[in-house]
Amino acid sequence: ARAFTIAIDGPAASGKSSTARAVALELGLGYIDSGSIYRCATLLALRNKISDIDARHADLIGLISHSKFDIRILRNVWLNNEDVSKEIRCADVNRFVAEIARDAGVRAEVLKIQRSVAANAEKKSAAAADGTTPNGVVMDGRDIGSAVFPNAELKVYLDASAMARAIRRWDQMNSARNAQGKRSEEDGAQTEKPAYPTVEEIAREIEERDYADINRAHSPLRIAPDAVVIDNTNLTFEQQVHTISDLARERM
Ligand code: C5P
Repeated sequence: ARAFTIAIDGPAASGKSSTARAVALELGLGYIDSGSIYRCATLLALRNKISDIDARHADLIGLISHSKFDIRILRNVWLNNEDVSKEIRCADVNRFVAEIARDAGVRAEVLKIQRSVAANAEKKSAAAADGTTPNGVVMDGRDIGSAVFPNAELKVYLDASAMARAIRRWDQMNSARNAQGKRSEEDGAQTEKPAYPTVEEIAREIEERDYADINRAHSPLRIAPDAVVIDNTNLTFEQQVHTISDLARERM
């Protein structure tokens, strides 16, 4: 069967990753979170103390070139055989990632990685498919429909109000914090409580990142002309997953 590609783009915290993952599961396609590739590149930059990316551009590109950058996106994200799933979501990475992603050289390297990761995921889904249903991938990000897979069979632009997105992100952090608090209580551990951001602080961080992503010169966040725009401010998770899966099935 031929490969079917679904591109899901949208601003920060619009629910792309969880939605894309659920759609992929429902349709038997592979799933790739392209933001995690930019986050891994950012983590490497931070670890190598690259703060001025113009001054150390060659070092930065070296770090993410093919031989040095072994990234596997499974349930967790593995960078050079290390599980970095948690670390790539930390505050330092959140603050720095849009600046790293603005760089044309970085984007060119990441593009190669995106295409090779997608080709692998496609092969895997083909092996699992029964021959009657299409194989392929769902990839989410900012420029998937406009730059990475301009020929994707289905392009979705997922949006929600800035406040709805901030509240969702805050809820996510809060439930992760509660789960952790319960665990350390059970261990009897005396852990120091880190400072958690307020909804307003998260909203500001999201808006700053969106601004940077929309206004950069190279493959900025845009609604592709042939994308289906879904505003999920007032949709349940199940509603948006079904809407996208149904759109895909109509085209398969
Ligand atoms: O999706 P996520 O919020 O994890 O993405 C982190 C950052 O990576 C984005 O804010 C953006 O700067 C960059 N990114 C990008 N193009 C993509 C995916 C992510 O520029 N396709």
